[in-house]
Amino acid sequence: MFLHRLRKPVLALAAIAFAGSALAQSYTTSDGKKLDIFFVPTQHQVVKRMLELAEVGPNDVHYDLGSGDGRIVIAAVRDFKAKKGVGIDLDPQRIAESKENKDKDKLGDNVQFLNQNIFETDLSEATVVSMYLLNSINLRLRPKLLKELKPGTRIVTHAFNMGEWKEEHNESVDGYQVYLFIVPANVTGKWELSQGERRIALDLQNEFTDLNGTATVDGKPAEIRNARVTGTKIRFTIDLDGKPVVFEGTSDGSTISGAGWSAKKS
Ligand SMILES: C[S@@+](CC[C@H](N)C(=O)[O-])C[C@H]1O[C@@H](n2cnc3c(N)ncnc32)[C@H](O)[C@@H]1O
Repeated sequence: MFLHRLRKPVLALAAIAFAGSALAQSYTTSDGKKLDIFFVPTQHQVVKRMLELAEVGPNDVHYDLGSGDGRIVIAAVRDFKAKKGVGIDLDPQRIAESKENKDKDKLGDNVQFLNQNIFETDLSEATVVSMYLLNSINLRLRPKLLKELKPGTRIVTHAFNMGEWKEEHNESVDGYQVYLFIVPANVTGKWELSQGERRIALDLQNEFTDLNGTATVDGKPAEIRNARVTGTKIRFTIDLDGKPVVFEGTSDGSTISGAGWSAKKS
């Protein structure tokens, strides 16, 4: 049973890995553009779980990067009531199929399919992004995702992760691996934290969800521990008067606000 469950994704991934050399022709669209990866659809039960993990709802704008036959975008709007869905695929054949599928479901202008390169697409309006690409493509996309997407944007990937950017969650759906990432706020820099009369100088660095730095309390250095950024939420511990104090707050870029404390970028 276990081996049977593993077999499908392993075969799909092996096919993708093999394709680079043996099926080079599959990488070219009918109008001569070079694809980074050819079309392999995500199974419907996996699509459903990816959209559940991303908690897609009526306030969301969903983008599928390399949207294939459009199934993830269509499900986001049809089944999860996203206010807008955008599929981007370089292959005109996939875009034509997606539009046919959208028409079958009688969906309106809030479902769009764009025949363009994901690397040349402005992603900034997305609140949810899905991807079934390759590890190497995810890594090439990573700086663009971190630059263009707002902190808090959810990214769900099928089969491939984001390297050192650790996921919030991963699970297997019938043997297919899925990952959830949340775009972290950038809190790198110097901050002045106020908690009542107390002032703490913070020098923070965050890479992806990891948060490191130093605190200066009453002129003395203090360690920052258990620190992490999850979307716009920041959490860290500093020892004050010999006792660990947990700070939890939300960043809007120039301030971090928590219960009984706030910090301003200096
Ligand atoms: C593995 S399929 C995934 C399809 C769909 N997202 C799904 O999960 O069912 C990858 C898709 O990416 C498209 N693609 C590959 N390189 C691309 C690029 N640079 N820009 C846009 N689309 C691309 C392919 O045409 C293909 O449809």
